[in-house]
Amino acid sequence: MRVLGIETSCDETGVAIYDSKEGLLAHTLYSQVSTHAEFGGVVPELASRDHVRKTIPLIEQAMSEARCTKKDIHGVAYTSGPGLVGALLVGAAIGRSIGFAWQVPTIGVHHMEGHLLAPMLESNPPAFPFVALLVSGGHTQLVKVEKLGSYEILGESLDDAVGEAFDKTAKMLGLGYPGGAALAALAEKGNSDRFHFPRPMIDRPGLEFSFSGLKTFAINTAHQYGLDEETRADIARAFQDAVVETLVIKCRRALHATSLSRLVVAGGVGANQMLRQKLHDMVKKENAEVYFPRQEFCTDNGAMIAYVGCQRLLAGQRGDLSIRVFPRWPLDKIC
Ligand code: KG4
Ligand code: ZN
Repeated sequence: MRVLGIETSCDETGVAIYDSKEGLLAHTLYSQVSTHAEFGGVVPELASRDHVRKTIPLIEQAMSEARCTKKDIHGVAYTSGPGLVGALLVGAAIGRSIGFAWQVPTIGVHHMEGHLLAPMLESNPPAFPFVALLVSGGHTQLVKVEKLGSYEILGESLDDAVGEAFDKTAKMLGLGYPGGAALAALAEKGNSDRFHFPRPMIDRPGLEFSFSGLKTFAINTAHQYGLDEETRADIARAFQDAVVETLVIKCRRALHATSLSRLVVAGGVGANQMLRQKLHDMVKKENAEVYFPRQEFCTDNGAMIAYVGCQRLLAGQRGDLSIRVFPRWPLDKIC
C-alpha cells in the first residue's frame, strides 16, 4: 500500500509518500521558522496561511520525486491533532479533498503517534514492546508502547514541556526562537563545573517531570552573574546538563518499572546530541537498546504521518468524509 502523508499541525508543512513494501519514497518539508522568529513564537494565523500556500506545491513535488501519479496512491493520511486548529484544518481539508477526488480512503493521524513511531522509518527499527520518551515543544512523556495504538502514559511533565523549557531559556539568553538547537550549540562552549542546576523530581519516586523551575533557575543565575558571553555559555551548559541527566534518570527508571529493554526517543528534543550520547551510555550499562529517528525526522515531518497512516489503513481503519480536527487530544485516547 502506498500512502500520501500530510503534516500541518504547527509551523512546518511536511509531505511524504510511504510504501508498505518499498519504504519511504519521497519527503518534502517547508519550515516556517523564519516567518515566526521575529514574533518570538508561532503566530497561528500566519501558520495557517503558510500551510495554505505550501501544502499543494509540496504534494506535487513529493509525487514527482516518488515518480507517482494519482493512480499509484492507495490512501491519504493527514495530521488531525493535536496542534493549532487552523493549521490542522488546512491539512485535513486538503487530505480529505484529495482522497475524495482520487477515490482512495483517508485517515486522520495523531501527531504524537507519528513522532512515537518515527524510528520505524529507519533501517533497524525497534520491535514492540518498548518504552518511548517523547520530547517536543509541547510534550514530555514516557510511554509504554505494546503495539500500534496501545499507548500507556507512564509519566509526563506537570508544567513546561522540555522543548518549551529549552526555548524559554534560549530566549532569555538572546538566542531567538525556537532556540533549542542554538542553546545546545552554545552549551558546547560552556563549562559544566561553574553552575549546578537542580535535577527536578528525581528524589521522588515515579516518572513525572517538571521543567519550569529550571527555566527560573536559569533566569535567577543570569540576574546574579550577568549575561556576558562566557556566563551565557556556562548557563546553557548547566541547563542542558540538568535536563539531560533528569531525562536519562527517568528513562532508566521507566525501563526498570516496565522490565523492558528497548527505549525509543522521539520529538524535536531527540535531536539533542548530548541527550543521544548520554542515553547511549545509559542503555549500554543497562544491557538495553536505544533507537532514535534520523535527525530530520526528530522534528515535525510528513514521513511519520505517512507511515502511521499506512499502518492504520492496512489495519482496515478508514475516516469518513467529515473534516474534523482535535487541537487537544491525549495520546492514550487514540483508538
Ligand atoms: O517535535 P517538534 O519539532 O515540534 C513539536 O511538535 O513541538 O519539537 C520542537 C522542539 C522545540 O522546542 C525545539 O527548540 C526543540 O524541539 N529542539 C531541540 C533541539 N532541536 C530542536 N532542543 C534541544 N536540542 C536540540 N538540538
Ligand atoms: Zn511535533
